[in-house]
Amino acid sequence: MTLFLLFLLYAVGLSIGLARLGHRAGVPSSGEVPPQNPTRVLIVGATGGTGRQLVAQALELGFTVTALVRNPSRLLADHPRLTVVVGDVLDPTSVEAAMRGQEAVLSALGHKRYFHPTRILSEGTSNILRAVEIHRVRRLVCETSLGIGDSAGRLGLYYTLLVIPLILPFYFLDKTRQERIIAGSKVDWVIVRPGALTNGTKRGRLRHGSSVGSFLGTVRVSRADVAEFMLDQLASNEYLRTAPGVA
Ligand SMILES: NC(=O)c1ccc[n+]([C@@H]2O[C@H](COP(=O)([O-])OP(=O)(O)OC[C@H]3O[C@@H](n4cnc5c(N)ncnc54)[C@H](OP(=O)(O)O)[C@@H]3O)[C@@H](O)[C@H]2O)c1
Repeated sequence: MTLFLLFLLYAVGLSIGLARLGHRAGVPSSGEVPPQNPTRVLIVGATGGTGRQLVAQALELGFTVTALVRNPSRLLADHPRLTVVVGDVLDPTSVEAAMRGQEAVLSALGHKRYFHPTRILSEGTSNILRAVEIHRVRRLVCETSLGIGDSAGRLGLYYTLLVIPLILPFYFLDKTRQERIIAGSKVDWVIVRPGALTNGTKRGRLRHGSSVGSFLGTVRVSRADVAEFMLDQLASNEYLRTAPGVA
């Protein structure tokens, strides 16, 4: 019983920490920046679940796509408008090389090193932002997750009390750093916070905004729908400098 109570205290404390450390609303969307219509986009995390959807849908929409990948054989795409740059987001030189000539960046960076304290997301995002500044790229759309900042708890009780405290504390703490680095940058940014991801098809019926998610049940969304929403953010100011949830 004491152990259970201690664990509960830890889980609730972690959730409060994630709420305080992640991005919280406060900088309103600016209508002053005219929405751009980029045609050249860099996709980071292009070999992952969401990343592959981003690549496929961006090509379908007519974008000229550069994919920064560690292992090109995992990309599963080949197209005349697709350029592959082999590199690592933790290597500033390769990020800078991939950023050359881009108008916008989409990041679906993630990893599976759950049980170690890591800075892959935050350090990788810092490298992206440094390259963004050097090459004057205007917009960054980055996928993080419900459950941090002002969406803390919104992945539902199962994630808040079990999955995040037991499996993902280091990962989510790094996501809070990642969000704060983005929010503190000068680029036009949109942070996209999905619920639990599925590999389902695009349903096109997406709920989005700051009140998405549930404190009880787990909300879900397909990677295909998240990718479509992220691509929509390239030419829209609706969520500029905010972090909408999607489910
Ligand atoms: N799973 C969920 O239910 C869930 C819910 C909400 C939010 N999210 C978040 O959504 C994001 C995308 O998730 P996902 O499952 O679609 O993606 P994923 O399959 O985990 O893919 C992650 C991508 O990041 C790349 N990557 C990792 N480290 C890298 C590095 N050092 N340099 C360059 N690329 C690197 C991976 O490349 P490799 O192929 O080389 O490994 C891969 O392309 C993640 O941040 C995840 O935490 C997930």
